[in-house]
Amino acid sequence: MTTPLRVGLCAATALAAVLLGHAVNVSAQTTAATARPTTPLSFRSGKEIWEAGCVSCHGADGRGQADNLRGFEVPPTFPDFSDCPTSTPESNAQWRAVITNGGPARGFSTIMPSFKDLLTQEQIGMVISHIRSLCTEAAWPLGDLNLPRPLVTEKAFPENETVIAGTINAQGAAGIGSTLIYEHRLGATAMFEAIVPYAFSKETGTWGAAFGDLALGYKQKLAHSTRRGSILSVGGELIAPTGNPDVGTGGESTVFETYAAYGQLFRGQTFLQLHTGIELPAHQDKLPKAYYLRSAVGKTFATDSGHGRRWTPMMEVIGDRDIVKGVSTNWDVVPQIQIPLNKRMHVLASVGYRVPVNNRDGRQRQFLFYGLWDWMDGGLLKGW
Ligand code: HEC
Repeated sequence: MTTPLRVGLCAATALAAVLLGHAVNVSAQTTAATARPTTPLSFRSGKEIWEAGCVSCHGADGRGQADNLRGFEVPPTFPDFSDCPTSTPESNAQWRAVITNGGPARGFSTIMPSFKDLLTQEQIGMVISHIRSLCTEAAWPLGDLNLPRPLVTEKAFPENETVIAGTINAQGAAGIGSTLIYEHRLGATAMFEAIVPYAFSKETGTWGAAFGDLALGYKQKLAHSTRRGSILSVGGELIAPTGNPDVGTGGESTVFETYAAYGQLFRGQTFLQLHTGIELPAHQDKLPKAYYLRSAVGKTFATDSGHGRRWTPMMEVIGDRDIVKGVSTNWDVVPQIQIPLNKRMHVLASVGYRVPVNNRDGRQRQFLFYGLWDWMDGGLLKGW
């Protein structure tokens, strides 16, 4: 019986032969002996690399080689690079890591070999560009524009993920809030989300627990540019008064919220995210209109020359104001860090601390956190 591991190793060895053989073909002077890792193989295009080293498993069109020619059982996460809904959300950094260090480096199958001794980083960039050309619908923004999720600011990128977020009061009345957020992509440019908050509080002296205001949201990407590193979306939420005013979890009024979200990636994996919106309650006698401006700046660091685990410290500055005469804007800062929990990095966590900067009466310092599962990249227990 052949195990996937052995198939993977054999395939990698066979591939080395293919790649080295290819190098001899394209350059008569290069011998297989000198074409070692230190001597990059001479390929003129990403397509050439693809044909020499990848087609045997991934197929010419990126959909996977035919069953009878492939010689291995495909894992459930085996990619179809021509399928825009599943290939575009992956970032180039993720692909680069898998191609450089092989599947296991990101908790994927051992069948996907490591190419670090066969291709230069430049050549890996060329083959990634070729894979990108296999999805031909330009409306899908690439995963590179999917900036790390801040604790409060809404992202511009339409997502497939499940998030459990929480708050714990660090001062004042004891309180713990939790929110389940489910986000689901609708085609190339849109997303819907369902938000279910549940809170425990001791505001009235004894512990009370209740659902908060349930919300349904919709987000629409308006524009994006991979070259400029920018993405712009607008969205709306319908918030139902399902909370309990006695426990302080809402319940005053139905609220319509509308917002814009912008993400900008800069050189060196630094980024800025902006999110501004307005909340319009149906019963303005019970709940005032309000607006908010939220921003997050951060930088992503990664181990192993960018191919290993990525973590992202961020700083959010948040302003919100009830549209009522004589009331000033509340400003908060939220230093935080997002860390991957598993190797595949599709299960992440973030922790932060929310500090009111002004109007501190009745506004508490809070610990904020979330756990996030990007379920397109596999089950919750996969890739650890
Ligand atoms: C021996 C077969 C084999 C060869 C050769 C091979 N791959 Fe793969 N590759 C796989 C398998 C199997 C997976 C899926 C791993 C999983 O999902 O567990 C994969 C996954 C990947 C992924 C990750 C996709 C994702 O969704 O994250 C990328 C990127 C990739 N391969 C690129 C390449 C490139 C580029 C080459 C050629 C330079 C190549 N592969 C050669 C078998 C192969």
